[in-house]
Amino acid sequence: EKGTYPFYMLKEIDEQPTVMRKLTQEYRDDHGKVNIDLNLVNEMADSDRIYIVACGTSYNAGWAAKSLIETVTQIPVEVQLSSEFGYNMPLLSKKPFFIFLTQSGETADSRQVLVQINQLGFPSLTITNVAGSTLSREAKYTLLLHAGPEIAVASTKAYTAQIAMLAILTQAIGERNKTNTSFDAFYELSIAAAGMEAMVDEKERLSSLVEQYLSTTRNAFYIGRGNDYHVASEAALKLKEISYVQAEGFAAGELKHGTIALIEEGTPVLGIITDAKTGPHTRGNLKEVESRGANTIVIASEDLAREDDQVILPKVHPLLTSLVAVVPTQLIAYYVSMQRGYDVDKPRNLAKSVTVE
Ligand code: M6R
Repeated sequence: EKGTYPFYMLKEIDEQPTVMRKLTQEYRDDHGKVNIDLNLVNEMADSDRIYIVACGTSYNAGWAAKSLIETVTQIPVEVQLSSEFGYNMPLLSKKPFFIFLTQSGETADSRQVLVQINQLGFPSLTITNVAGSTLSREAKYTLLLHAGPEIAVASTKAYTAQIAMLAILTQAIGERNKTNTSFDAFYELSIAAAGMEAMVDEKERLSSLVEQYLSTTRNAFYIGRGNDYHVASEAALKLKEISYVQAEGFAAGELKHGTIALIEEGTPVLGIITDAKTGPHTRGNLKEVESRGANTIVIASEDLAREDDQVILPKVHPLLTSLVAVVPTQLIAYYVSMQRGYDVDKPRNLAKSVTVE
């Protein structure tokens, strides 16, 4: 039930810190260790490459977790779109392990890949929010997101739960293979949950930012580098699907290779900055678009923020910044849609689960 919330999406955005804590409870044993089926952990730890296969927001979550998984497990990760991978399967490694990320567990594009993977005899894991769903039944292993029903068509809490689930799984692999030296998933997720809590409390501020910069615009850009780029892609998808603003998530450095031609007087460009190494470069790119008339909005973590940045993110582990950075972008999409009077939970042309290929 959405209770006092005007839309499910807002309720689901708000639930995200609670979902982080719930996941920790579900997958932590009494000694503080990861409690996940050892057969799954061993099989994944012995693989030579992890393939994440997904669509839409789940695909973006895969990208947001890639460097986390690679850093902690030292196993290379490929992230693939289901609708491409199934028909143009790349040359696979010798011992691949497949992860299907799917909130609903019913996405036809992802299922057709799983059918092929089963025929090839490779091990698979479905990470889903729906127990007993098709992809969960057909994969060798399942991990549940425990996020509670996600009703709004725009996926929010499933995205952050998928990243958190992958962080916990990754911790187990890193321990098994002794590749993990310093990452403590449960501790870092508790910090991230607190950070997300602070961000969902910024509703008024974000709503007025939207009024100021995005009230009438027909297009917008999100830019960032590394993990910030992956969040930019998710942020742009959210803006497109519920507010019908033509939005693009762009690798900040790539803008000047063509797309900068689209910048006009007043075009909103939102920069995400959570990484000390690339932050100054993204700021440079924001300057470039500003000098061509763009209105720039900076979403930066507190250790890298400047006085006039519009959104300040609490500091979290560098591999988990997407968990906090995505929250203001979800709220921005929500307020653009709401302020324009759209049905936030049921955008046109879309269904909650896409069961056709
Ligand atoms: O249920 P799934 O995670 O497999 O769904 C994948 C996409 O259809 C889904 O994420 C879609 O992109 C959402 N509407 C995004 O908000």
